[in-house]
Amino acid sequence: MSNNTANTSSTSEAISKATSTGRKAYRGEVLHFLADPAKVSEEESYQYFEDGLLVINNGLVEALGNAKDLLITLPADVIVTQYDNGLIMPGFIDTHVHYAQSEMVASYGEQLLEWLENYTFPEEKQFADIEHGKRVAEFFLTQLLDAGTTTALVFGTVHKESVEAFFIVAQQKKLRMICGKVLMNQNCPVDLSDTVESGYADSKALIEKWHNTDRLQYAITPRFAPTCSTDQLNKAGELLKEYPSVYLHTHLSENKDEIAWVSELFPDSDGYLDVYDKSSLLGRRSVFAHGVHLHDHECQRLSDTNSAIAFCPTSNLFLGSGCFNLKQAEEFDVNVGLGTDIGAGSSFSMLTTLNEGYKTQQLRGDKLSPYKSLYLATLGGAVALDLEGTIGNFVQGAEADFIVLDYQATPLMDVRIKRCNTLTEKLFVLSMLGDDRHVKATHIMGEKV
Ligand code: GUN
Ligand code: FE
Repeated sequence: MSNNTANTSSTSEAISKATSTGRKAYRGEVLHFLADPAKVSEEESYQYFEDGLLVINNGLVEALGNAKDLLITLPADVIVTQYDNGLIMPGFIDTHVHYAQSEMVASYGEQLLEWLENYTFPEEKQFADIEHGKRVAEFFLTQLLDAGTTTALVFGTVHKESVEAFFIVAQQKKLRMICGKVLMNQNCPVDLSDTVESGYADSKALIEKWHNTDRLQYAITPRFAPTCSTDQLNKAGELLKEYPSVYLHTHLSENKDEIAWVSELFPDSDGYLDVYDKSSLLGRRSVFAHGVHLHDHECQRLSDTNSAIAFCPTSNLFLGSGCFNLKQAEEFDVNVGLGTDIGAGSSFSMLTTLNEGYKTQQLRGDKLSPYKSLYLATLGGAVALDLEGTIGNFVQGAEADFIVLDYQATPLMDVRIKRCNTLTEKLFVLSMLGDDRHVKATHIMGEKV
């Protein structure tokens, strides 16, 4: 550090301020991923710098490398913020979550269909009121940021006001967020039901107003096959053709009773995924939550269409849905991201989600390495959302949404990390013992929030 020209503060969290060039730098241990560890060797999948430097210019990543090499290239007025005893990583990406279910987490005793009927639908009725939506969106986004999640693919409710509220709050916070109004016109309470026409018109108006406004994007959001008529699913497919850059977000093969119900409701379809396929809902920007009970031919179809699955372990355990077959998804080369699925999921923390994800794979007799885990929580999510190069890692030009994890935030993590001899062991401990307490800082477009 002796010959660097930049102004380095050695406190663990020095005040950072923008310079005349809009450049800032962050020094510390840095990890990010370049590829899926299941597709390349583990060592090739990530970059790790024990003493790294992340240089940000106007909210975007300008450079990443060894601090000693990069510091000498920086102008003297660039303030360097140093983070000790922690790890700088890209912000987490939650590929399936319901903001409107934030306040009903931990509702007791039911599996999916009864849980929807008894808890979820009554909760979602409140979102006809835009002010209620804004209040819950504020709470939700604060929880996400505290947990180190900087981007999410989010379910609204059937009310267009719910999405309006969400986008208003997300825009104020300058976040990259994707959200959509739920489509559901059958098998749900009358006062939570839209129609084929109103669902189409409301979605279209929201797309026109919000899609690609600042960092916000829209997802056409049929709740799941049982609550949508074939006409409504077809109309969703038409809308997707009109706006090819919007997302498609729904649920798929989560629970065995649900799957049996879908085959009763759609007798002409060749399984659950085929219901969506017949309405042209599969594609590069289509994300299907859960996929716990998929047949091989369904995985093949997801892969052929470049669709993605959101793996939601805390939810799958909480609702007793089952253990997602990650190995099967890997064999068929299906894009997979990680989701909390709040309020069926039980934590906003992606680290806690990794902990439970690991256990679901143990129950299957499969291993989930910490590299694959942390890949899923960052770059894997970006790939699932077709946002590779924009978020999820620190390639040059990526948006600088990043977090700082603190190994010393809890005594247990502190003692356990100190005993680690390898990076692999350290990352595994982080993924098993970490939660929102270990997120020391969250940065959005380079700015600490
Ligand atoms: N399937 C249909 N709606 C929902 C929901 O709100 N949560 C979950 N986990 N599954 C669903
Ligand atoms: Fe869900």
